Amino acid sequence: MDRPRVLSGIQPTADSFHLGNYLGAVRQYVALQDTHEAFYFIADLHALTVAPKADELRRRSRVAAAQLFGAGLDPEKAAVFAQSHIREHSELAWILICQTGMGEAGRMTQFKDKSAKYGESSASVGLFTYPILQAADILIYQADQVPVGVDQKQHLELSRDLAQRFNSRYGQTFKVPNPYILKEVEKIGDLQDPTAKMSKTSSSPQGILDVLEDPASLRKKVMRAVTDTGSEVVADEENKPGVTNLLRIHSALSGVSVPDLEARFAGQGYGAFKKEVAEVIVEAFAPIRERTEKLLANEAELDRLLAAGAARARVVAQETMVKVRDRIGFIPTP
Ligand code: ADP
Ligand code: TRP
Repeated sequence: MDRPRVLSGIQPTADSFHLGNYLGAVRQYVALQDTHEAFYFIADLHALTVAPKADELRRRSRVAAAQLFGAGLDPEKAAVFAQSHIREHSELAWILICQTGMGEAGRMTQFKDKSAKYGESSASVGLFTYPILQAADILIYQADQVPVGVDQKQHLELSRDLAQRFNSRYGQTFKVPNPYILKEVEKIGDLQDPTAKMSKTSSSPQGILDVLEDPASLRKKVMRAVTDTGSEVVADEENKPGVTNLLRIHSALSGVSVPDLEARFAGQGYGAFKKEVAEVIVEAFAPIRERTEKLLANEAELDRLLAAGAARARVVAQETMVKVRDRIGFIPTP
């Protein structure tokens, strides 16, 4: 039997992934490549919604790709590619845009948040159609599972709705995808504001830990992370969101359960605990950073890996689009 398919995308909108991206998404990409037929891409089309400079987009796209390999994606197992290399994403996005209601798109909370930030009238139309392009990304590969953080749940719901709507209007064409969200790491908190998610756009530099950041800076930020009143290292979402966030991070990276960590640090206070959290993070990031830098020093090799990933992805995307064009009523492509 064919293996189930996994697909996800990540935007090249920063100079490094952060701990939230890594724990909430990238680590799952790596784990699932062993059990699934895997497709992962750099969402450079989506990144256009923040209007990057051309050179910056190109550089960040390569940095993002290198980090995916650095984090453990194996080009033999997973197709890793640039979204813009597969033209069919844009084509399917248009077709799905025509199946989506204005109200439906307007309800997306990420759009509402982001457009409020830019000012309603200066937000681009691309920001509005962003989740529909995301649906196209997912449906074109007939993905079964889509590993993401919890902030993407609503976009996944839209993808499912659009798949079902298209299937009922035009006949069975798309698999209905499932979000793959791991509860313990679905929302890693900002170090300075632990009830908010760590985010490259809204976190302050002190609140965010970058995968490519140097160890001294990582240690400093963890030691200065907001903790809560009291001195006990115990998980308590309501009253101790800062300590709870750090416990989750430690546990996710070390594999030691939260209750075991609570027992180990009983009576020791926050200082000793934070020191160990910092070391666990530094240790997890060091090999990723090293492999990423090595790959970035060999751009030709990196581009070659992306080309090979795109070649594999293209086969699947084109196969889906032949079906879609026929179902929707286009004259066969000459
Ligand atoms: P950001 O929100 O920092 O701009 P992205 O939107 O590019 O990050 O997210 C890339 C992936 O990482 C998505 O799957 C997203 O759900 C996940 N992710 C982002 N931030 C976090 C976080 N703080 N905790 C868990 N997952 C996250
Ligand atoms: N919107 C996602 C994010 O901000 C990135 C993304 C684009 C994506 N296309 C996707 C995620 C397809 C999963 C599947 O993180």
